Amino acid sequence: MTRFMPAGALHGAYTPPPDKSISHRAALFGAMSSGPVVVRNYLDAGDTRSTLAAVTAIGARVEERGGGDLVVHGVGLRGPSEAADAIDVGNAGTLLRLLPGWLAGQEGRSWTLDGDESIRRRPVDRVAEPLRRMGARLAARDGRLPPLEVTGSALVGVDHELAVASAQVKSCLLIAGLLAEGRTRVLEPASSRDHTERMLARAGVALERENGAVGVAQVEELALDELVVPGDPSSAAFLVAAACVVPGSRLTVEGVGLNWTRTGFFQIARRMGASIEGDLEPPGAFAAGEPIGCLEVEARPLRGTTVEGAEVPLAIDELPLVALLGAFADGETVVRGAAELRVKESDRIAGVVDGLSGLDADIEATDDGFVVRGSAGLRGGSLESRGDHRLAMLGAVAGLVSPEGVDVVGMDAAAVSYPGFELDLGRLLER
Ligand code: S3P
Repeated sequence: MTRFMPAGALHGAYTPPPDKSISHRAALFGAMSSGPVVVRNYLDAGDTRSTLAAVTAIGARVEERGGGDLVVHGVGLRGPSEAADAIDVGNAGTLLRLLPGWLAGQEGRSWTLDGDESIRRRPVDRVAEPLRRMGARLAARDGRLPPLEVTGSALVGVDHELAVASAQVKSCLLIAGLLAEGRTRVLEPASSRDHTERMLARAGVALERENGAVGVAQVEELALDELVVPGDPSSAAFLVAAACVVPGSRLTVEGVGLNWTRTGFFQIARRMGASIEGDLEPPGAFAAGEPIGCLEVEARPLRGTTVEGAEVPLAIDELPLVALLGAFADGETVVRGAAELRVKESDRIAGVVDGLSGLDADIEATDDGFVVRGSAGLRGGSLESRGDHRLAMLGAVAGLVSPEGVDVVGMDAAAVSYPGFELDLGRLLER
């Protein structure tokens, strides 16, 4: 148990840890390449360590040069070897969903993917079903949960229409599409993070983008040499949220990724009245690279807002923080259309609502989100992380604005995405 107490305002400049989503993809794309790929600013955290171990288990070699620099010596698009044991994805949902897209097209080889207790509750039918339509052979426990067995086979490209926007599912299918005969197209009901598409473009893959769908054709190889990972806007969001609610705070966030498919939380916070200055990438932009920039954040009075529809995938991992801001805002804050939160590292609707109501927030769960009525804020108490890194950090930030402080049970979960969280927070609180 770790206790977080009010400790004054946040001040100073800070660089968030490297982006988790982009780090996973950099390791996977490096492994899929034939030549060496230099990765700069790779995230050193539980989840992204799992990806390095996974690509190593299937034949890639990872040279760690220190300071976040890696060289991935890949096996080529068609070269992964069978692993000695089940591939352990740990707690990494992104690895669990993306890797099968690559392995499914490898004829004559098979693999099993498994992970921790939380990963064993996370659905894989969302990738298994569309991959099967391409000719893949996959078997999951009870038809929908890990362990997931993948037997490589010849794939054919098909058109997929996703019922729910998901970057993980989209990425899995686009990666499988690189190996499939013909074209593979994915249409989402709303835009989700597009790091895979940007990295594919960087690797020389021609992307077809039409009427909201994205498509790829079979390719021989990826042409990548170097990838630079920006700071993670999802990790930065915890300290940004802290600076929004702790009166008198002034925070500068440097080197942070500003890809518009990731900055939904900053837009929502601005709408709630927060002062977040910086050049967020304009919505709809697309480039073969990731924009990196700087944000200036200052605490201001907040008002309630509604988050729904197309905005949900752009802020999916930060919605717990919208609840926290909502507890300090004037009026009601509503999040709907976010049922996906129930199948994240934990059931995040239950985790946020039970967690914050335990600290005296006026918050209620709905089937697909929550409603928070802003009040004088929080009293404090204890919050259970449920082994979920984002709930652990939510509890810590809540502690900074709860007169009685917050005991976070299971703070160690933060190391999945942000091992230096407490250190960074401590530094920004020092006078
Ligand atoms: C991720 C996509 C999101 C997000 C997850 C990381 C990714 O999941 O919640 O933390 O790296 O593609 P979904 O795409 O399944 O919503």
